[in-house]
Amino acid sequence: YYNSWAKKYDDDVTVMTYRAPDAAVGKAATLIFEKEKKRFKILDLGSGTGLGGVSLRKFGFQGEIIALDGAAEMLKVAREKQIYSNCNEHILTSTQPLPYPDDTFDLIISVGVFGNNMIQPDCIQEVLRVLKQGYHFVLTIRMHSKSTEYQDRLEGELKRLEAIDLMAVASRKKFMCYNWKDVTADKELNHNDQFGHGSAYLYRLKYFNC
Ligand SMILES: C[S@@+](CC[C@H](N)C(=O)[O-])C[C@H]1O[C@@H](n2cnc3c(N)ncnc32)[C@H](O)[C@@H]1O
Repeated sequence: YYNSWAKKYDDDVTVMTYRAPDAAVGKAATLIFEKEKKRFKILDLGSGTGLGGVSLRKFGFQGEIIALDGAAEMLKVAREKQIYSNCNEHILTSTQPLPYPDDTFDLIISVGVFGNNMIQPDCIQEVLRVLKQGYHFVLTIRMHSKSTEYQDRLEGELKRLEAIDLMAVASRKKFMCYNWKDVTADKELNHNDQFGHGSAYLYRLKYFNC
């Protein structure tokens, strides 16, 4: 699905004034000193066409950024932006762990990638494995009329990880992800089905590893 959308993706989300990457990266930027922004090694998990990378540069992150995505065509567009030092094609599942050693990243962002038919909540622990202790994983979750079951599972998994002292939900806020007023009547994109209410949660998870 994302492979076939890759070429039109950036144009389509521009029309929708897609705000999720700026929301996630803007939140991350408030947590990090300017000096650290220059050297942080960052993973853009489910990078798609690289809009997260664009936001990271916009908010002053100058270090190495690695993109990981399951869709080769999306990564091709991301690569053209010349922001990422590596673009890794990989589908993260509970049986296909991330291709990185423990404690690799200073920051992980994941924008609109945890959801139905995408990354499942039981992969969060694997994501935390590659994050350095005490550092942050910022993710957005799209609200969708059909995803209540997914959201329940996600919240259950977050509670489980907190209960075993692996991480804390450091903040959670609801924000508008899409500006519906600006959306044109594009028949090909079924906006209601694909983007539900146009809002998202932004979670900031702090990893403890102790
Ligand atoms: C809605 S797009 C978001 C892309 C980008 N983060 C953005 O905000 O524009 C979701 C992306 O997640 C990728 N994806 C979904 N499930 C994945 C998985 N299990 N492993 C790796 N990538 C996945 C898709 O290929 C797609 O590029």
